[in-house]
Amino acid sequence: MDGNRILVCVAWPYANGVQHIGHIAGAYLPPDIFARFSRMRGHDVLMVSGSDTHGTPITVLAQKEGVDPGEVVERYHPLFIEAYQKLGLTFDLFTHTDTQIHWDVTQEMFLAHQANGLVYKDSQRQLFDPEARQFLPDRYVVGICPMCSSPDARGDQCDSCGRLYDALELIKPRSTISGCSELEIRETEHFFLALDKMNDDLLAWLQTEKEFWRPQVYRFTLAELERHEMRGRPITRDIEWGVTIPLEGYEDKRIYVWYDAVIGYLSAVVEHARLEGKPDAWQDWWKTGEQQGSRIFNFIGKDNIPFHTIIWPAMLMGREGLCLPYDVPANEYLNMKGRKFSKSRGVSIAINEVLERYQPDAWRFALTAMAPETSDVDFTWDDFVERVNNELVANWGNLVNRVLGFAYRACDGAVPTPGPLLGEERALLAEVERGFVEIGALYERVKLKGALEACRSLSQRVNQYLNAREPWQVIKVDEAQAHTIIYTALQAVDWLKIMWAPILPFAAQTLHRNLGYEGELFGRQFTETVRDDRGEHLVLRYDHSPATGEWASRRLPPGQRLQRPDILFQKLDVEEVLTRESNEEDALA
Ligand code: MF3
Ligand code: ZN
Repeated sequence: MDGNRILVCVAWPYANGVQHIGHIAGAYLPPDIFARFSRMRGHDVLMVSGSDTHGTPITVLAQKEGVDPGEVVERYHPLFIEAYQKLGLTFDLFTHTDTQIHWDVTQEMFLAHQANGLVYKDSQRQLFDPEARQFLPDRYVVGICPMCSSPDARGDQCDSCGRLYDALELIKPRSTISGCSELEIRETEHFFLALDKMNDDLLAWLQTEKEFWRPQVYRFTLAELERHEMRGRPITRDIEWGVTIPLEGYEDKRIYVWYDAVIGYLSAVVEHARLEGKPDAWQDWWKTGEQQGSRIFNFIGKDNIPFHTIIWPAMLMGREGLCLPYDVPANEYLNMKGRKFSKSRGVSIAINEVLERYQPDAWRFALTAMAPETSDVDFTWDDFVERVNNELVANWGNLVNRVLGFAYRACDGAVPTPGPLLGEERALLAEVERGFVEIGALYERVKLKGALEACRSLSQRVNQYLNAREPWQVIKVDEAQAHTIIYTALQAVDWLKIMWAPILPFAAQTLHRNLGYEGELFGRQFTETVRDDRGEHLVLRYDHSPATGEWASRRLPPGQRLQRPDILFQKLDVEEVLTRESNEEDALA
């Protein structure tokens, strides 16, 4: 594995609805912060994902609306891209799974698993709805969880405990299309992945240097594997939407969405390589070897844990020569009023909508500060306003305003030339400079909440320094000393700009300009339409070449012309926000 390459894999969102801020806080913003940091740190980074277009999450909705599943995908895929662009999520490629490349890579893997003796055919007993006259895979059926007794567990997984099971184990199952609870059991033939054969290898892999994983991820996975009860899992379904099975005689079945979606991490890198005109470059990221391969980070919500720490690694082992996940920093849930965000239950704050009303950096800040890294967290609008006003605006925003505003007025619009730095100045700069090491270590371990806290306390430290040194008083009696103080504060702000940048990239760029720098701290997002044998699809991409932001303490050049400073963050009016947002909620209900 080449340690300099970092592949950031982001969970593929089902294209069956817009995303809410719970999704964003859980699995979409964290990888962007991590990817931005890693690029600044000098790593070779690729961040990929796309819309998950297959399976019952799509067909159930399409059936309910009486439209073609493709229509559902076409509706939501561009809305993901729109939101990610506004929020500044720097996907090197955000594509979807209904592409020729993805189908090819999926079918190749299926055949490779078959050739390696990991895929077998068996007949399966399946729930059948006599009213709707169809089999009931996955989301077509709900019942009581056989593992934790929670109601409304789905056919393939329980939202409550996260465990996977066979739909026949559900207690009191009923059909989600007809509501029928007098279900039949019928035999049907399916292909299975022989997970039972992989149990030992998976356990051995988990027990080598994975203790640094988040405790809840490690513990869940270890418990599942130590039970030694892994069974073959069916990887095909009786539906008409999804990747076709590359064998004759199975035209009425499709590959299970969870088998194909995870392969997206591989197929998206293949697609990216082709779009870049270097079709073999995918191997640099995925093949194992001294010079090849990458450290792979899988960003997901907790309901996705078993698919990423057990099934996907098993699939990769079953194909040989491919890199396994390095870390799986899964988040818990961001809830609203104690309930999991869920569109179907009317508990939702759509990211596309709230990005029209509040700054992207305000969301990036608040959702990172609230991040459910170790336990579920409740979102409230009070908390949002509180964090924006009392933490973002009052701390970092205020520091920047004070320092740049004063420097611009008092030093003729240029960075002043400092005299020799005194003890206090040196101490402050040494402390801020250590942030490159200390905060860097937090970002590197995906402790993003910790990184934010550390940025905040360093910013606070600089605010305190200003309060103690009062350059606005000193300048009346000793201009040279005032210039030294202002220079020190500007230098600290310039470094903090870099440390905050992964979380607050828009503000960092504005500040970069205000400090008189030319050029861009980050690259450029863009969209493009790609044609292939399955049709056209819109993709979001990222051109990192204009980026100049480095994770390093560069010296702020004395004499550099400053710009008239902008206001970085808008302060919110709590009454206004609460009134507006409760009206929005009523309108939704
Ligand atoms: N679509 C799934 C969900 O929203 C996530 C798929 S992640 C992937 O829960 F690994 F399968 F791609
Ligand atoms: Zn359960």
